[in-house]
Amino acid sequence: MIEVHQLTKRYGSTLAVDGLSFQVPRGVVTGFLGPNGAGKSTTMRMMLDLDRPTSGSVTIDGRAYHQLHQPLKHIGALLEAKAVHPGRTAYNHLLWLARSNRIPAGRVDEVLGLVGLREVAKRKSGGFSLGMGQRLGIAAALLGDPKILMFDEPVNGLDPEGILWVRNLMKSLAQEGRTVFVSSHLMSEMALTADHLVVIGQGRLLANLSMNDFIDQNSHGFVRVRTPQPEALLDALAMARISTRPLAEGGFEVIDGNPAQIGDLARDHGISLHELSPQRASLEEAFMQMTADSVEYRTGDIHPSADGTAPPPPEDAGVARTGAADSGGWGAQWNRTSGKRRKES
Ligand SMILES: Nc1ncnc2c1ncn2[C@@H]1O[C@H](COP(=O)(O)OP(=O)(O)O)[C@@H](O)[C@H]1O
Ligand SMILES: [Mg+2]
Repeated sequence: MIEVHQLTKRYGSTLAVDGLSFQVPRGVVTGFLGPNGAGKSTTMRMMLDLDRPTSGSVTIDGRAYHQLHQPLKHIGALLEAKAVHPGRTAYNHLLWLARSNRIPAGRVDEVLGLVGLREVAKRKSGGFSLGMGQRLGIAAALLGDPKILMFDEPVNGLDPEGILWVRNLMKSLAQEGRTVFVSSHLMSEMALTADHLVVIGQGRLLANLSMNDFIDQNSHGFVRVRTPQPEALLDALAMARISTRPLAEGGFEVIDGNPAQIGDLARDHGISLHELSPQRASLEEAFMQMTADSVEYRTGDIHPSADGTAPPPPEDAGVARTGAADSGGWGAQWNRTSGKRRKES
């Protein structure tokens, strides 16, 4: 179990972590979610005593990291995949780590097999792809067979096969009863991996809840409607006290309505429908709304969409819905939304 208590880190005028308190329980995958710059890596570095808190504390099984005897046997971590001497082979990198914590050399072979790097064990890690580097970092984390594992954005830069592999690995490690703490800036990734969520923005705790609760609270349904007689249908819906919101490209969405009710209402008023489709708000969008006020660099400032027009700011998230839960990343959602809208209209 990891316990974070009133953890604060200040770098000059930047308050990177601001009074964070939470616990990471064993036996589940806990997702540590927040936009870029939220303070995830800083928090993780402080968990490993790689950075000193301005105030507050972190304990691992009740002790600070530096108090752990042979720490690799308590907690394994992948923070920075490229933090490996480039001239050292994968095998030798793992061997010196093993020696430093009195882990038998045979374990090096085992973890190389686990992460699928046995074939390249004698190659220098400097020539490794990002994916191979991530695998080597995961091998190092697993080396001491620790009860607690921590991964900072482990799927960044991985191909789909690698992402699936990491996802399944985390789940199986949790199923073995271990504590698994994994950070990401992508809700879509966490939705597929995490059982529990700790969400932060600008160093502050925004939410600490189970993935199921997050889904229950945030994936509201709505119905997209298109009709050649929009005024007539909007009047009928208003009379039935059903609320709607317009879509930029025409048509509208019915909030908390069900398709059968809307279809019957249209028929009763002799209105034809060209679309009546139930939708789900994406979890990515709920996450973006939750963190909108805390995003350090606005998407619109740094990622203009392909045609040069600025994407809508996150504040408009309630209007621009996609229903897709597979965003390509922080910002990709907006570009994708505008691309999709253009194609449909
Ligand atoms: N060593 C450092 N010196 C100064 N500022 C830092 C340092 N590390 C992180 N920061 C700042 O702290 C904030 C949090 O960064 P970080 O923990 O890397 O966020 P995340 O991992 O969530 O993207 C950012 O504003 C970042 O610029
Ligand atoms: Mg980070």
